[in-house]
Amino acid sequence: MRLLNIIKGHVLTPVTGGDVLDIPRGAVAWSDGAIVDVGPVEEVLRRNPGAASILDHGERLIIPGLIDTHVHFPQIGMIASPGHELLQWLEQYTFPAEAAFANDGHCDTVADFFTDQLIANGVTTACVYGTVHPGSVDALFRHARTRGLRIISGKVCMDRNAPDELLDTPDSAAQQSLELYHRWHGVDRLEYAITPRFAPTSSDAQLQALGELASSLPDVPIQTHLSENSGECAWVSELFPWATDYTDVYEKFGLVRRRSVFGHAIHLSDSELSRLGAAEASLAHCPTSNFFLGSGIFGVNQAQKYSGLHVGLGSDVGAGTSLNPLATCAAAYQASRMIGSPLSATELLTLATLSSAEALGAGKHVGSLEPGKDADLVVLDPESSPVLRNRADYATTTAELLFALMMLGDDRAIAEVIVAGRRVN
Ligand code: GUN
Ligand code: ZN
Repeated sequence: MRLLNIIKGHVLTPVTGGDVLDIPRGAVAWSDGAIVDVGPVEEVLRRNPGAASILDHGERLIIPGLIDTHVHFPQIGMIASPGHELLQWLEQYTFPAEAAFANDGHCDTVADFFTDQLIANGVTTACVYGTVHPGSVDALFRHARTRGLRIISGKVCMDRNAPDELLDTPDSAAQQSLELYHRWHGVDRLEYAITPRFAPTSSDAQLQALGELASSLPDVPIQTHLSENSGECAWVSELFPWATDYTDVYEKFGLVRRRSVFGHAIHLSDSELSRLGAAEASLAHCPTSNFFLGSGIFGVNQAQKYSGLHVGLGSDVGAGTSLNPLATCAAAYQASRMIGSPLSATELLTLATLSSAEALGAGKHVGSLEPGKDADLVVLDPESSPVLRNRADYATTTAELLFALMMLGDDRAIAEVIVAGRRVN
């Protein structure tokens, strides 16, 4: 028998087409893991009699499950490692932390912790880097599957400019990626992503091999880093003297297309942004990381002017300082404020949900509370800390309340998480 569930509260969600639905006394109904109805509470109750359960969250906000378009699960243990810009930070902290994933037991322990923390922070969909070790991705997918999360992930590929123990080869990178693809892609809510770490750690031959793999798997996501740091950009022009710019490196090897998710993308020319848009590629804005490593400021409004270009939000943990998309939204606000084009609370919510879903090519399934989509929901509690509660008392509009939640909220504000119709926290 089809079991119907209903949640009542203040429903706030972007919807396909650009509007935001704001229903203070609203409800969402779902069945078999998919949303069947959204609207004012009386209407949803009338249209959907005989619910097996009705959860009442009073005045709390019910929003779509939050989405992280760029995060490194193996770096959760070395989050908040200070003192350097990107390239030194990778050498001193990141590569040693990732070397520990040669051990399957370690992969399992960290994947277990990481997936629990995604849920604790209201993240129900994420695009995640593993390490060079296939076992890291197996562990992540295993734990994500148990919890019902929608996860895109891939084994990092690198065959130069990293410690020997973290290197693969052009052939082994393509071979291991293909094996993981066959093992996991399309299993429940999991998808495989071809994952060259970034241009400096892959030879031409490796990028060529991964480009060939990508062309044999045309709908598969690709994730990598692009133009994060000025030292990195200068290094790329030395390593690839034939390339006209950084984006050209990925273009030449067939790695720029729909569902290619480029982390950071801060220092790009007009030509690069136009070409990325023409390819319908995606950029992951990672503001807490960009501030932490001093990488620069990404302009959301500017990027969104390029036709075809998708922009999502990423934590980039461990360079990012929080898994919580509320904190990422706060940093995105600050970044937008710094360059004189501040984002509103509802624009930030859309960025963390529907725009991120579209950036991952998952907009059909997640990113908004609309019938037919997966029942991924998060309940935000404006009374979860004393200062937030006090501020919320003065809020006169939904946008003001949401903004206070973003600026002041932490994992205590994530009151309830429902993943594919299941209560999980
Ligand atoms: N560029 C290449 N690898 C990484 C990484 O692990 N983190 C960040 N922030 N940038 C990168
Ligand atoms: Zn990253």
